[in-house]
Amino acid sequence: MFDLTLKIALVTGASRGLGFAIAEGFAKQGAIVVLNGRDPQTLEKSAKHIRSNGGRAHIACFDVTDASAIKAAVAHIRDTIGEIDILVNNAGIQHRQLIADLPEADWRRVLDTNLTAPFLMAQAVAPSMVERKSGKIINICSLTSEVGRASVAPYTTAKGGLKMLTKSMAVEWAKDNVQVNGIGPGYFLTEMNTALVEDETFNNWVCNRTPAGRWGNPEELAGAAIFLASDASNYVNGQVIYVDGGFLSSM
Ligand SMILES: NC(=O)c1ccc[n+]([C@@H]2O[C@H](COP(=O)([O-])OP(=O)(O)OC[C@H]3O[C@@H](n4cnc5c(N)ncnc54)[C@H](O)[C@@H]3O)[C@@H](O)[C@H]2O)c1
Repeated sequence: MFDLTLKIALVTGASRGLGFAIAEGFAKQGAIVVLNGRDPQTLEKSAKHIRSNGGRAHIACFDVTDASAIKAAVAHIRDTIGEIDILVNNAGIQHRQLIADLPEADWRRVLDTNLTAPFLMAQAVAPSMVERKSGKIINICSLTSEVGRASVAPYTTAKGGLKMLTKSMAVEWAKDNVQVNGIGPGYFLTEMNTALVEDETFNNWVCNRTPAGRWGNPEELAGAAIFLASDASNYVNGQVIYVDGGFLSSM
């Protein structure tokens, strides 16, 4: 039910962090993974790591905010590896600043990467899924798809929008057997959060606020991604699964 043998999975922002952990999880289930990022050397190093453990991994170097680069990369993957069965929109950036001081350029940069890019990626990949009547799209959302936090307005806006984009895609493509779902990670130990982990007050807040009493480890996100990428979730559509140590369930 959870087998992904020879499924072709494109994961954006997969050279490190949650994207890499998801790609590694897919590869262990037999998928052929395509790691996206912007630096070929880092990508190749990550792909090599997956291959050294017996997995199948390719790289696709492009910027997810660049529509023409996306189209070219998707066509290249189709011609050289095969049609994409699973798309994970994982690439994301953070920018911490209060709304009153926030430059418009930073607002747009965060929305472009975290919200418009998943739209562009799905627009490039979904038509072949619709035609083949089979496909899985997973959008990496956030706790901020549900709740706000001071100093991260563009991120919260983008992730809230991504939850609704997930539902919009799900209802448009469900009849074509394409399932579109989201994963909302709680606080995970990745480079995006290095500054927060090093801040003792914030670190204590995360550990006290999260019922599990700790940060999540990236590999703990892979199970939900494998579920949403596999036949086990064929009637699950438009949902966001929160993998958060109980955070959103607690006052
Ligand atoms: N770490 C957490 O606690 C957490 C919590 C909730 C949601 N998320 C989300 O999970 C996803 C992964 O986060 P992470 O913590 O692994 O972050 P990370 O910074 O470690 O990794 C993000 C990856 O995306 C890549 N990327 C950024 N912009 C890109 C672009 N324009 N084109 C191609 N690649 C690009 C980066 O180079 C990096 O490899 C993000 O969408 C993030 O918002 C993370």
